[in-house]
Amino acid sequence: MLDPSSFIKESIDEIQKKIGDKKTIIALSGGVDSSVASVLVSEAIGNNLTAIFVNHGLLREGEADYVKKTFEKRLNLKYINASEEFLNKLKGVEDPEEKRKIIGKVFIQVFEREAEKVGAEFLVQGTIAPDWIESDGDIKTHHNVALPHGMVLKLVEPIRELYKNEVRIIGAEMGLPEEIIKRQPYPGPGLAVRIVGALTQEKIEICRKANAIVEEEVQKLGLDKTLWQYFAVLTNTKVTGVKGDMRDYGHLIVLRMVESLDAMTADVPELPWEMVKTMSKRITAEIPEVTHVALSVSDKPPSTIEFA
Ligand code: XMP
Repeated sequence: MLDPSSFIKESIDEIQKKIGDKKTIIALSGGVDSSVASVLVSEAIGNNLTAIFVNHGLLREGEADYVKKTFEKRLNLKYINASEEFLNKLKGVEDPEEKRKIIGKVFIQVFEREAEKVGAEFLVQGTIAPDWIESDGDIKTHHNVALPHGMVLKLVEPIRELYKNEVRIIGAEMGLPEEIIKRQPYPGPGLAVRIVGALTQEKIEICRKANAIVEEEVQKLGLDKTLWQYFAVLTNTKVTGVKGDMRDYGHLIVLRMVESLDAMTADVPELPWEMVKTMSKRITAEIPEVTHVALSVSDKPPSTIEFA
């Protein structure tokens, strides 16, 4: 059984011994794992940890401000708005895996640039037990990571032995807000995996607004406590609609809401019909570019949770 206060105390001791007074960085995403790892290491070494939060232009509505507001007093936070850099590289790219690869590559470039400015010697990662047990069963800690331009950083993984529920317990013990601890998983490439086909600023805005409506309506009913993920997808299908007495030709949004334990499989549960209808009405009313809203009812497998 995990004893949160002794875990925190022992971790802080270990981190101090390992890092000493060296500069250290972490990529803070605002997800629970990197948030808990950041706060834990910051307790141990204070401002020698720089938490780098990269905005890739594919974040949810309000996310950048929320992360800044939540962490700027608590961490030595460096906010980097690299939206343009990411979107330029993604221009015209349709293939989902290609989009992921580009986002990963640009992310490392931006992060490495910042790491160099900080003069960091250590890199903290919010790796948790399932990340390494499921991926390669590697029980040894990798001690070093080499970034593409040859920079080598020593790795610190303070929550490596923990499972998600334990990470949440530690986060709560360290006073992180419930919104951070209990939030739904949000994929690293962000809205890029929820927009089918090539990204444009207009499509990102549409998907972001629709997603905000889905989140709001789910949270109103408290279903955020039982759903694993809930979001909107912007398809690359255009459909005919009618606005006033005029025919219209607009986007098709799909509502995706699933239950799951570990994202390996997922089910679409029965959903309150009123909520689904409200989402549809709000999305078509508040986002004029959308003419049609559909509900995804496919489980994983055979479908994946994300669309792209
Ligand atoms: P799929 O769509 O494969 O997703 O059923 C399973 C879980 O993984 C998340 N996901 C990602 N997370 N980078 C991430 O950090 C990615 O490229 C990515 N693709 C999918 C997805 O949100 C779900 O929780």
